[in-house]
Amino acid sequence: MLPSTAQLKQTGGRELARIVFDEETIARRVRELGREITTAYPEGDLLVLGLLKGSFIFLSDLVRRIERPLQVDFLVAASYGEGTVSSGNVRLLYDPETELAGKHILLVEDIIDTGKTLNRLVALLRQRDPRSLQICALLDKHIAEHLELDAAFLGFDAPRAFLVGYGLDHAENFRHLPYIASLT
Ligand code: IMP
Ligand code: MG
Repeated sequence: MLPSTAQLKQTGGRELARIVFDEETIARRVRELGREITTAYPEGDLLVLGLLKGSFIFLSDLVRRIERPLQVDFLVAASYGEGTVSSGNVRLLYDPETELAGKHILLVEDIIDTGKTLNRLVALLRQRDPRSLQICALLDKHIAEHLELDAAFLGFDAPRAFLVGYGLDHAENFRHLPYIASLT
C-alpha cells in the first residue's frame, strides 16, 4: 500500500518499509490489556512504572483502560545510543521517586529485544521490596535467551525487524507516529 500524504508529512518524506500494527489494531489490543490488568490485580496499591522514553504513548493509552486505582511513575534507562543493535549497557538515568516497597509494581516496556534492559531492571526493582513485580510489554521479538521475568501482559509478538512509531524511535525520530512500522 502506498503511504498516505499524512504519513509522509509526519516522516518528513521518508518511506517506511511497512506498517506492522495500525492504529485500530493497537487500540483494540490496548483495551484488552487494560481489561486483563484490571482483573489481574484485585487489591493493594498498584504502581504502573513506565520505562522512558519508549513506553510513553503506550503507557498513557494503557492506564486509561485500567479500571482500578493506580499510581504512575517512570524509570529512565539508557541502552541503545543511536544504533539499532543492543549494546547491553543499561544505565539508570532517572529513579522513581515514589515508594516501591509493599506495592504491586507493573513495569511497562515498549519492546523486548535482547531482554538485557528488563533483566537489569527486574534485578534492581526486586531489591526495593515490592509486593509483586510484573512486566507489561507492548511488543516482544522473542529473541531473548534468558528473561529474569517473562511479560505477564504482552501486546503483540513482534517481527525481527527494527520497529518505529507509537513511542518507539530510531535515533529519537518517529516516536510520534500513531502506528508501528518497520524501518527497513
Ligand atoms: P533490549 O535490552 O535488547 O531488550 O532492548 C530493549 C530496548 O531497546 C527497548 O526498550 C527499546 O527502547 C529498544 N529497542 C529494541 N528493539 C527496538 C526496535 O525494534 N525499535 C526501537 N527500539 C528498540
Ligand atoms: Mg529506544
